[in-house]
Amino acid sequence: MRYLTFALAKGRLAKKTMGYLEQIGITCEEMKDPDSRKLIFVNEELKFKFFLAKATDVPTYVEYGAADLGVVGKDTIMEEDRRMYEVFDLKLGKCRMCVAGPEKAREHLTSGEIIRVATKYPKIAKDYFYNKKHQTVEIIKLNGSIELAPIVGLSEVIVDIVETGSTLRENGLVILEEICPLSARMVVNEVSMKMEHERISSLVKNLKNVLDHRD
Ligand code: PRP
Repeated sequence: MRYLTFALAKGRLAKKTMGYLEQIGITCEEMKDPDSRKLIFVNEELKFKFFLAKATDVPTYVEYGAADLGVVGKDTIMEEDRRMYEVFDLKLGKCRMCVAGPEKAREHLTSGEIIRVATKYPKIAKDYFYNKKHQTVEIIKLNGSIELAPIVGLSEVIVDIVETGSTLRENGLVILEEICPLSARMVVNEVSMKMEHERISSLVKNLKNVLDHRD
């Protein structure tokens, strides 16, 4: 039997996913060592491999088949736009992709004028403004602390993830428009889906069962 390889987005999401996999009997003891810097882990008995990747790279590993499966946020899936199947919603890390800014920026969203949009997600922002709102905008790519942009005058609005809303609140910004809900999804390589259909579908079925019965 060949290994089934899982690419996990490093961090809280990987830990939670491993917790659910454990409940269906897929364990990986060596991954639990908090001091370990290892990136790849093996369960020899069940023929599973797990590796920890940067979230934005998970779709790349899955598209190329370096991983058969992956677990990653819908935001990354939309932004990376890779060829792969999205098989199910783990309903973890729920949050929303939003257009946000100071209240006074609201008028810029209806006037049709060209505004500047700062974001870590240029593709999602472009899709939203061009294809949904039919508004021409200038997209400014940033890598973090996006909320700064409208405060210091880099942009009129931002496109960013809102979870609790406290970052916006504490910086005097508000949600102006909601783009879509987000959560973690399982993704599968297109060839693996055919070649390993039985193992993958039984894994998905068991995992769904565990998730349906969590509190
Ligand atoms: C994310 C996001 C917001 C914040 C939203 O940033 O970009 O800034 O979390 O969460 P909240 O609604 O609960 O306040 P992250 O912490 O990932 O860091 P970043 O600034 O590097 O993007």
